[in-house]
Amino acid sequence: LKQILIDADTGIDDSIAILFALKRPDVRVMGVTTGFGNTTARQAAENSLRLIRLAGAPYEVPVAVGATEPLAGNWKGPDPHIHGPNGIGGVELPPSPQQPLEEPAWAFIARMAREHPGELTLVTLARMTNLAKALEIEPDLPRLLKRVVFMGGTFHAPGNVSPVAEANIAGDPEAADRVFQAGFDLTMVGLDVTQKVRLTTDHVAILDKYAAPENRPIVDYLKQALPFYFRFNRLQNNCLDHCPVHDPLAMLAAVDPSVVTVRTIPARVECGGSLPGMVVADLREHPIEAPGVSICVDVDSRRALEELLTTFMA
Ligand code: RIB
Ligand code: CA
Repeated sequence: LKQILIDADTGIDDSIAILFALKRPDVRVMGVTTGFGNTTARQAAENSLRLIRLAGAPYEVPVAVGATEPLAGNWKGPDPHIHGPNGIGGVELPPSPQQPLEEPAWAFIARMAREHPGELTLVTLARMTNLAKALEIEPDLPRLLKRVVFMGGTFHAPGNVSPVAEANIAGDPEAADRVFQAGFDLTMVGLDVTQKVRLTTDHVAILDKYAAPENRPIVDYLKQALPFYFRFNRLQNNCLDHCPVHDPLAMLAAVDPSVVTVRTIPARVECGGSLPGMVVADLREHPIEAPGVSICVDVDSRRALEELLTTFMA
């Protein structure tokens, strides 16, 4: 059983990643922590609690609220035009009786890592602020966590918030750079691969047709939430009824690394200048002294979609 901690800014694509992890029989979700990004950290926690209830998880999944702004303290606010007024396309899911923990996200991550040394994979689907703060209070975290798999950054593909930067890294470059330097077993699932995997309206129709009866509420939710995300991608990126699969692919790569091809390269994150958040991978023969990051450079896109979608089917 893969024991996974999820850190998310629970928007539409995060929600698919969370539901997928909750439904995979070989995964146990040990907790969800939230941060600012697609929505506020508190709303992301509310969304996560409702999604956990929607999935009918047969065990309790603790949820902890985390960072409300980047380390440098300059958050511009949520992205309601991308993920809707509440982060999940305006869909009103039934509330959960469960409350978030009193403990902040970073304290929860550090505590869980100490309680389960070498066992947990942390999958970050948002800014790395919570992880950077956890590292501050537990410097041994790179040894205590088995792996960190993150959705973010780009190696050769164009950025999505600047020509060279992706939102999760550009949203807190200082946090990302601390994580890059810390010595984690670190896998980057960036735009090079997430832009290659495309979810279409046809896929949603197939899901609708073959949904397992117990997953009907999940599929009904996706049918309501995804049109919002398709609309944004049509207006912003000229996508005709399709969208990239960012966070769900990171989750899949954590669960089944065989869907991606990686290259391990020393890398840092640009924190200053006019293009902050650029991942600078050093391809020289004698590169900078920085830990190697396993950068996903290719993906079996057909198999990724099949694995993601059949998880919800009968
Ligand atoms: O750039 C895509 C990433 O930014 C995804 O994680 C999305 O949910 C947003 O956080
Ligand atoms: Ca996200």
